[in-house]
Amino acid sequence: MTGSESEEPQVRRAVCPGSFDPITNGHLDIIARASKLYDVVHVAVMINKSKQGLFTVEERIELIRRATAEYGNVEVEAFHGLLVDFCKQRDIPAIVKGLRAVSDFDYELQMAQMNNGLSGVETLFVPTNPTYSFLSSSLVKEVAAWGGDVSHLVPDFVFEALTERLGEK
Ligand code: PNS
Repeated sequence: MTGSESEEPQVRRAVCPGSFDPITNGHLDIIARASKLYDVVHVAVMINKSKQGLFTVEERIELIRRATAEYGNVEVEAFHGLLVDFCKQRDIPAIVKGLRAVSDFDYELQMAQMNNGLSGVETLFVPTNPTYSFLSSSLVKEVAAWGGDVSHLVPDFVFEALTERLGEK
C-alpha cells in the first residue's frame, strides 16, 4: 500500500449560518445546493440573546432538521458566540451564504472579510434562486401576521407551526 492510499480522505465541510426564525424555502435552496458541493453541511442556528424570536432555538432546530432530513448530510445545531469559533471547533473551512440582491452584498462582504481576517475561514456566496430573491424570515412573519398567504414560501410543517404560533399571539 502506498502512503497516499493509507491516508484518510479529508471530509469537506461547510457551514450555512443564520437565525432561521423560521427556515424558509430560500434558506432550504441554499442548504440543498451546499449539500451537493460538500460532504457535510453544518447548519448553525446562531443565538442572538438581544433578539426575541418568534420560535425558540429548539423549535427552529427541529423545523430545520425536518426540512433537511432528506439530504442525508446536513447537521443542525445551535451556537452562541462567533461564527469563526463554531468553524474552528469543527474544522470547517468554508461558510456558504445566499446572496439575494445587491443590497445584501455590502454587509455580507463586511462579514466575510471580518471572518476571513479573524481566522482565515472563506465565505462562498451562492446567488439565490430568483424565485426566492425577495424572501426573508422577517417578511414571511410580517405577511403571515397580517393574514397574507405564505404557504408557498416555507415547507408545509413550517407553515403550520407559523399559523399556530401567530394564532397564540
Ligand atoms: O439570518 P441572519 O440573522 O441574517 O444571520 C446573520 C448571522 C447569524 C449569520 C450573523 O449575524 C453571524 O454570523 N452571527 C454570529 C456572531 C458573529 O460571528 N458575528 C460577527 C460577524 S462578522
